[in-house]
Amino acid sequence: MERDEVTSRQKAGLFKRLKNAVQSGLSIKLLLLTAVFVLIAEVLIFVPSIANFRNVWLKDHLLTAEAASIVYLDANELMLSEGAGQDLLITTQSIAVAIRQNSFSRLMASSGQPGDLVQHIDLDNSTAFGSIKSSLSMFFAEPNSQYRVFGTMRSSPAIMELVQESRHIKAAMWEYARNVAFLSLLISIFTAALVYLALYRLIVLPIIRISSNMDTFSKTPENASLVFKPSNRSDEIGTAEKRLAAFQGDLQQTLRQKQRLAELGLAVSKINHDLRNILASAQLFSDRLTSLPDPTVQRFAPKLIRTIDRAVDYTKSVIDYGRALEAPPKRRKLMLNIVANDVADLLGLESSLAIEWQNQIPLDLQADADPEQLFRILMNLCRNAQQAMMDADIHGRAKQLKVTAEKINSDIHIRVSDTGPGIPEHVRDKIFNAFEGSTKPGGSGLGMAIAVELLRAHGGTISIEKTDENGTTFHLIIPDEV
Ligand SMILES: Nc1ncnc2c1ncn2[C@@H]1O[C@H](COP(=O)(O)OP(=O)(O)OP(=O)(O)O)[C@@H](O)[C@H]1O
Ligand SMILES: [Mg+2]
Repeated sequence: MERDEVTSRQKAGLFKRLKNAVQSGLSIKLLLLTAVFVLIAEVLIFVPSIANFRNVWLKDHLLTAEAASIVYLDANELMLSEGAGQDLLITTQSIAVAIRQNSFSRLMASSGQPGDLVQHIDLDNSTAFGSIKSSLSMFFAEPNSQYRVFGTMRSSPAIMELVQESRHIKAAMWEYARNVAFLSLLISIFTAALVYLALYRLIVLPIIRISSNMDTFSKTPENASLVFKPSNRSDEIGTAEKRLAAFQGDLQQTLRQKQRLAELGLAVSKINHDLRNILASAQLFSDRLTSLPDPTVQRFAPKLIRTIDRAVDYTKSVIDYGRALEAPPKRRKLMLNIVANDVADLLGLESSLAIEWQNQIPLDLQADADPEQLFRILMNLCRNAQQAMMDADIHGRAKQLKVTAEKINSDIHIRVSDTGPGIPEHVRDKIFNAFEGSTKPGGSGLGMAIAVELLRAHGGTISIEKTDENGTTFHLIIPDEV
């Protein structure tokens, strides 16, 4: 009881922590994660886009140089005039401008001697990966470093070449990067907010609903109104909700059953208590009967005494049952035929006119079992068969109750067959469950459950071998004790 209380308190604590974690943690984590993932995506897009930006910038400058130089191409002057050259260098932001045709290179304009060139960029033959690599190195290059860029002119097959200082393109690239970064940030915040809202509605809110329901349900699990009401969703969350509702429903049913069992246990204990006293008096009276000389009394008195003794033993074992389950079987070798006859005696089968009793167990067949428990097993089975045949209308068929047994290797196989109406179909699956299999008014549905439990304690099994409108056969297997 105390342990139950501790575990339910632990559970309540766990739900509370889960709830807090969800409320304070999950939403924030989702928001941050979405923003970070969107940013990562933006960076991945940014790298190729900066390479593209650089190529377009360089192409623009080659085109500008081409447009400015084309006027002079046909003239045979090797270089432009100083004024025109200066203009060309300024507009193309270059140190030198040259045009190469076949193997002849014509320097159009130059401002002094170019220094060491850190890169040679061929715009005609650039690969995507090469562009990215060279753009990134340009992005972080020294502003004064120089590079050469060249590409085929639009208007002729000649190659236009520029030598430029890195600072111009670097400044342009950095400005582009700043703009992209700002835009990315805006996009990532906007997307993160949208994704977050969607996730909050789709996942976080339902989880909060589930966890708070678990919280309240765990405090009073008997309250039927607290069973979770699942939404109509058909996704994983919907499945989880439905499972939770089903689980809570099952739990409540188990609790109700446990409560019923506890109440029944109490009632049984009370009845048992008084029954013991009554049986004690009956024992006294029946003892006295043995001293009467009447032959009929002499014949029945020992049976009566044995039956009452047995009943007294049961009342004792019911008290044991209150403490634990059935007592472990006290096994010994016993004559099976005699036990079956005792059962028939108790049920009044031997003298019954309505039912034909057939004990076909070989007289010398021994079983290794607890005699009292085996008696109870057979009594429950035979009593059910007897009741089924008495209650039913079986026209044109003899009412027979037959018990057979044989030993195969170290197992005793017992069969209890009747010619009754068969087990009703709707209870066949649950006939061995306590309180669930009864179809009789006043029946408790315990007989078969008791038989199963006692057999199991012997390492044995019971199954329905046959049941239809012509009768029922139960098959019991009791292995010898190992
Ligand atoms: N031989 C049989 N023929 C037909 N129906 C049977 C037979 N044996 C069992 N049943 C069915 O199985 C049900 C469960 O039997 P079980 O002995 O567990 O409970 P019960 O007889 O109803 O109540 P009690 O606890 O008083 O024995 C019976 O109500 C009956 O409908
Ligand atoms: Mg019964």
